[in-house]
Amino acid sequence: MHSLSYNPDYFQKTLTELVPVLSHYLKSSSHSEQKVLIQKPIANILAELDFSRLISEGGGSLPEIITTLLGHCNHMLDPRYIGHQVAVPMMPAIFADLVNGVSNNAMPVYEMGPAATAVERGLISWFLGKTGWQTTGDGVLTHGGSLANQTCLLAARAHALPQAWEKGVDGSAVILASAACHYSIAKMAAILGLGTAQVIPVSVDEVFRMRREALTETYAAQKAAGKKIMAVVANACVTATGVYDPIRDIAEFCREHNLWLHIDGAHGASALVSQKYRHFLDGIELADSLTWDTHKMLGTSALCGAALFRRKKCLDGTFRQQGTYLFTDQQKEGVDISERTVECTKSMMGLKLFFNLAVLGEAGLATHVDTLYNNTRLFYTFINERPGFSCLCPPEANVLCFRYGVNSALQDSLRQELVAEGDFYITRATIHGESYLRLSVMNPLTAEQHISKLCDRLEQLAGHLKTEFK
Ligand SMILES: Cc1ncc(COP(=O)(O)O)c(C=O)c1O
Repeated sequence: MHSLSYNPDYFQKTLTELVPVLSHYLKSSSHSEQKVLIQKPIANILAELDFSRLISEGGGSLPEIITTLLGHCNHMLDPRYIGHQVAVPMMPAIFADLVNGVSNNAMPVYEMGPAATAVERGLISWFLGKTGWQTTGDGVLTHGGSLANQTCLLAARAHALPQAWEKGVDGSAVILASAACHYSIAKMAAILGLGTAQVIPVSVDEVFRMRREALTETYAAQKAAGKKIMAVVANACVTATGVYDPIRDIAEFCREHNLWLHIDGAHGASALVSQKYRHFLDGIELADSLTWDTHKMLGTSALCGAALFRRKKCLDGTFRQQGTYLFTDQQKEGVDISERTVECTKSMMGLKLFFNLAVLGEAGLATHVDTLYNNTRLFYTFINERPGFSCLCPPEANVLCFRYGVNSALQDSLRQELVAEGDFYITRATIHGESYLRLSVMNPLTAEQHISKLCDRLEQLAGHLKTEFK
């Protein structure tokens, strides 16, 4: 055994040396001291890390390696990071990754990770309290929203096609999903054996909100074609534009026709912790399942998702696996979580949200959601009032689509230039064939002054590009 493999003194010494390195990364990021986005070629990064030599010979100094590595990482805490829907990790949650690394109580079965399982069960109950399913429902944490969507759709399949686990599917089942739903829905339909062609798009309005009338029409057409509707999928909120589908309307339709309603709330279900914004999920108690990520709006690092169900029995029996080395019929303590997930071994992911809640309280997370949603409304007004700029629509969540001018190709070039410079990180979206610039306001430090500088820079870049886009 190498002398450092299991040497707690090495851990303590290295951690002490790392504290200033990691703290400097956080502080310099929040003060915008460097580029927010750093994109070097893979070969350069590996060369700077001395990767080939280190992996063959070892002997590396972690503080040195981590310093180099962080030099190539994007800066999430920089207020100019307005890019993707990935949380800026809150400080308490960061320690969960450390505890996971130290204890590694991976938990397919209770006896392998009693503390992590207990925390997960406690959090599931907390999530269910927010949806109104506390007494009837159940759920499970998953490594992210895509897997949560898969878990929910698998339960919907078990409900609609109980034979499918053993015999597969015969092509008669379809999913009616918002035309603006996240691509993981189609991906999971393929993995579940339905095929992507069996995800029937329900048309959306100009800002990507699902239309109730369109659902009625699509449902009628599929029924007339002899299809079995496995589930209806709606968004809370839409990834591209941040608008919420009318959940109560859609849920009432689904109840009327006895359809499973899945809400993909990977991003926007966190509004349920906010008194001010929870109305966007009005009617959620009528849905059958919900995906909710904590690594988007609840300040945890990736990954931690939740697949939640209104009825407990929907999860029981969805996964009918055998593993005599893991599962037995003997009476025992706790709950064996992997009997209810796609995964077997799971990280102690619930600790991240637990630590945020334990230190900041639910009120701390509500303030976080409120701040991001409030700020996005301020940025909407600011951008919309600035000559030359326009927004797609008033924001509902913390996503804002806007443009400088109206030329689609210009928006794409502006974003490309901006990313190459690395002083701001924003994304883009195609809305009904037109390109828009897109902000995800994930960082409470992002303020009007940063948006003002962003607009200044976009104007300057557009000036340089103007001959191309006349
Ligand atoms: C609405 C929605 N659903 C699902 C996902 C996938 O989540 P994950 O990246 O955690 O797998 C995303 C990711 O952005 C999303 O916005």
